[in-house]
Amino acid sequence: MNTTILGIETSCDDSSAAVIRNGYLLSNVIASQEVHRQYGGVVPELASRAHQKNIIPVVDAALRQADIRKEEVDAVAFTRGPGLLGSLLVGTSFAKGFALSTGAKLIEVNHLHAHILSNFLQEEGKEKSLPQFPFLCLLVSGGHTQIIVLRDYFDMEIIGQTIDDAAGEAFDKCAKQMGLSYPGGPVVDRHASEGNSAAFRFSKPKIAGFDYSFSGLKTSFLYTLRDKLIENPQFVEKNLTDLCASLQQTIVDILTDKLVKASVATGITEIAVAGGVAANSGLRDAMTALAKEKEWTVHLPEFRFTTDNAAMIGITGYFKYLKGIFSGQDVTPAARLERAL
Ligand code: KG4
Ligand code: ZN
Repeated sequence: MNTTILGIETSCDDSSAAVIRNGYLLSNVIASQEVHRQYGGVVPELASRAHQKNIIPVVDAALRQADIRKEEVDAVAFTRGPGLLGSLLVGTSFAKGFALSTGAKLIEVNHLHAHILSNFLQEEGKEKSLPQFPFLCLLVSGGHTQIIVLRDYFDMEIIGQTIDDAAGEAFDKCAKQMGLSYPGGPVVDRHASEGNSAAFRFSKPKIAGFDYSFSGLKTSFLYTLRDKLIENPQFVEKNLTDLCASLQQTIVDILTDKLVKASVATGITEIAVAGGVAANSGLRDAMTALAKEKEWTVHLPEFRFTTDNAAMIGITGYFKYLKGIFSGQDVTPAARLERAL
């Protein structure tokens, strides 16, 4: 007996649908919205309109690529939150309609829970080693930066989190100050590969425990640019790769310092990374180096599963399906959703 899950993701500016069968990914289709680039950030109203246009074609493509008929779908899993309300509403309404018309079960998914469980995504014939419980997850996205202890798929405890900006936000805001396009994280990453990471020093936070802060770094970056631009108006163009490399190194150091502390304090050496910033090559290299140095077992999701995608919603839906956790037709999207389950 097969268990087939259709995953739907519409929390921000990517419309995505995926099919998971028996825990294996069959298809993952993403329609990214280019319309926001010219505004330097996501425009919520335009995002929800684009989701309305994209949702049926992406679901159609995901089912076709998986060679699955909609009648074969046992459950439709969708992102309930957190995210932009208008965007979430499109995916939620679609999922409810799909469930109603096909008789499939309905499963709400927390977007952050799904980013973490993206580490369990795999394809048939390309099996990989999966995280063993308990493990620590560094969740680094555009909106969140957290260290989480996972004792089971549904038993998680946040032991550290940012008290201001998220790591992705720090990348994006500093990139914007350099006049780079949105989202800035991947652009900084590209330039950083050609720069000297020791060229500039930016301030690192000194806060207790496993919490993070990135607002001081953002200010220190801004002040450096402001002062240097007075001396040389071409400062940014002339030093772009070094600025990007130094910024990236600082963010990676901040992220890994607390992760090392958390590993020592908990005694957990099984470590996973998740979220959009998990695509960062500096962070990936640092994690690989730490794996050797600290004898950690490190899990890095494939690039295509780091930023927003429906495959991670589908796999989370699959684990909920196995546990019999379903939602009713009265479920509504939630822009803020602090509880992960
Ligand atoms: O997880 P995600 O797709 O969306 C949220 O749920 O927030 O993460 C998006 C964030 C953005 O801030 C983006 O700049 C960052 O992930 N990002 C990166 C890279 N790729 C995406 N940051 C640094 N380096 C990258 N290669
Ligand atoms: Zn995300």
